[in-house]
Amino acid sequence: MEVYECIRSKLKVREFKPDPVPDRLIAQMLRGGRWAASARNRQPWNFIVIKDRQTLAQIAQIASSGSFIGDAPLGIAVVMEKQGRPELDAGRALQQMELVARSQEVGGCVAGIRGEENDKVKELLQVPEDKELITVMAFGYPTDAAKARGKQRKPLSEIAHAERFGQGYLAG
Ligand SMILES: Cc1cc2nc3c(=O)[nH]c(=O)nc-3n(C[C@H](O)[C@H](O)[C@H](O)COP(=O)(O)O)c2cc1C
Repeated sequence: MEVYECIRSKLKVREFKPDPVPDRLIAQMLRGGRWAASARNRQPWNFIVIKDRQTLAQIAQIASSGSFIGDAPLGIAVVMEKQGRPELDAGRALQQMELVARSQEVGGCVAGIRGEENDKVKELLQVPEDKELITVMAFGYPTDAAKARGKQRKPLSEIAHAERFGQGYLAG
């Protein structure tokens, strides 16, 4: 799939078919994440692959905005070193995993897991205290309903500037 089309058509998916994500694809997603750039090339990430249904259900119960994880065949927890730019680096790795997944028709959705919920998921996944759990991202094959959903973005004219903030960029 052409890169721009892969990006444009990538949808968040919160409703999944029960089919498992093949191990070969999971490995390719992890490799995609590993190739992401990171500040000073520290590569401060760890990825926990979660397929166990009970664990996914437990995370879904804890994460108030991530109940969809309980319906996904796969979760990938992203655990970062705390120093540096953990959220920025994690976002880049996740995006690359998503694009590899999308190229094989697999979609997903990030769950923001914060505060006490974050502590509980960290404990469940036995994440060391000195590391930061950024998210658990759910992955799987989308249902037909999920595939039919559209995507909305602000117009480029609202967010793109030429040379200085506030000067409209006339995209061709
Ligand atoms: C950092 C981040 C956190 C997110 N947290 C949640 C979340 O907690 N729960 C949820 O249902 N969706 C979450 N999302 C999904 C966004 O709502 C979704 O990407 C956005 O609505 C755009 O979806 P689209 O690409 O299908 O248009 C999150 C996305 C990002 C990038």
